Amino acid sequence: MRAKIVAGNWKMNNDLSQTEALISDLRTQNKTSNAEVMIAPAFTNLWHASEALRSTDIEVVAQNMHFADNGAYTGEVSADMLKSVGIQTVILGHSERRAYFNESDESLAKKVDQALKHSMRIIFCFGEELNDRKSGNQEQVVESQIKNALFHLEESSWSDIVLAYEPVWAIGTGETATPEQAQEMHAFIRKTLKEKYGEAVAESTTILYGGSVKPNNAKEIFSKPDVDGGLIGGASLKAEDFFQIVNAF
Ligand code: 13P
Repeated sequence: MRAKIVAGNWKMNNDLSQTEALISDLRTQNKTSNAEVMIAPAFTNLWHASEALRSTDIEVVAQNMHFADNGAYTGEVSADMLKSVGIQTVILGHSERRAYFNESDESLAKKVDQALKHSMRIIFCFGEELNDRKSGNQEQVVESQIKNALFHLEESSWSDIVLAYEPVWAIGTGETATPEQAQEMHAFIRKTLKEKYGEAVAESTTILYGGSVKPNNAKEIFSKPDVDGGLIGGASLKAEDFFQIVNAF
């Protein structure tokens, strides 16, 4: 059985006191599903969050990291730095990183290698833009994003990779892919994995959906056979909403 995961990507929200408050709200929530739960606060709050959630089953993960070990990369954060504050998992390739910070397939492939070298788990994000979908190119775009950043990996590395399909047109817009659109793409992704790595990798890789997942649509999206959970933006900023989504499994 592949892992079910609901991860909250807080993006550039919540200072330290807001992080403390949201974490204490999260700690009061009742979890009734067997999904793994993760939150991704800003870099400045990772240490506090990982300490505050140490004895819980909520994992604290990072939103990004650099591909070098260390050095003259002003403003960047390394894998060792993340691990030193208790972080074992990193989100890579979010569409906002690609769009606003020029992250390319090539730089993402290097980040993926760096994370794996440090035995970190990766939530690797990708997804088409509205124009791609309008022109019917969504599968081609997604396939090339996955191939270019991940298909140099050995089969054994896939146990540390979680995929997150996030159609750009559905992020923060309130417009969700329909459960059928999500299922169709997730099945395509699994087929692409199977062609390259075989059945075992394809069937054991967790594929999350992200893009305007809310308490009122999570259940239907998560009911699709190839959707193994969600990467949640806006709705992860309220503990109750987030746990309604977690418990939608
Ligand atoms: P929203 O849930 O706010 O649409 O954001 C999705 C996302 O980008 C998660 O990484």
